[in-house]
Amino acid sequence: MRTTALCGLVAAISILAGMSSCGKTECDKAAACDAAVSPYENIMTRTSVRQYTDQKVSAGAVDSLLRAAMAAPTAGNKQPWKFLVLDDRAVLDSVAAMAPAWAPVGRAPLAIIVCGDKELGFPGEANDFWIQDCSAATENLLLAAHSMGLGAVWCGAYPAMERVAGLNRFFHFPPTIVPLNVVAIGYPAETPEPKQKFKPENVKYNKWQ
Ligand SMILES: Cc1cc2nc3c(=O)[nH]c(=O)nc-3n(C[C@H](O)[C@H](O)[C@H](O)COP(=O)(O)O)c2cc1C
Repeated sequence: MRTTALCGLVAAISILAGMSSCGKTECDKAAACDAAVSPYENIMTRTSVRQYTDQKVSAGAVDSLLRAAMAAPTAGNKQPWKFLVLDDRAVLDSVAAMAPAWAPVGRAPLAIIVCGDKELGFPGEANDFWIQDCSAATENLLLAAHSMGLGAVWCGAYPAMERVAGLNRFFHFPPTIVPLNVVAIGYPAETPEPKQKFKPENVKYNKWQ
């Protein structure tokens, strides 16, 4: 088995087993995480990270992130997506310059653009399910990053058409490819507290009024 595939497998098993947030950086160390964090705790402790160290993200870690993203559920199992991995400093800086809110991309050693591939989705109005499918993939990616000791933030593109146009001008996407977001990723240089968001008033049971 190729090393990359083995790395991805080991990391995926570690995530599934809840061996997360251990801070280990190499895929072979992922299986040796001593702190067992449950998947639930991984969800509850994830938060957007916008400052990163200079440490590179290994190819094995990128492979694990992509596998986690593509494990997401999709309508009709269409998997209407493509992932554009950015690890070239000049490219990252060019993308960061497209919007002030994308500054984290300019500080990150890695970013992944999650794109809808409308050609792979349903025809007609159900084609828009690509947005939910790619959002599910993005959340998987964010959670996997957190479980691997990485920090990440979702930087939104679609439906902000000015941002989409900037990416289109730079990457020359085919017309069926729509960038949903740019996920900036790196080893955290900050430890923000997870926000407390649970509000009982946002929950209703069985009837609205
Ligand atoms: C659709 C979407 C678009 C976002 N766009 C940006 C962005 O452009 N820049 C940024 O720094 N954060 C962006 N964020 C991150 C949010 O600001 C962040 O998720 C929110 O403040 C909640 O914080 P948390 O992720 O730490 O829970 C985006 C998040 C989502 C879901």
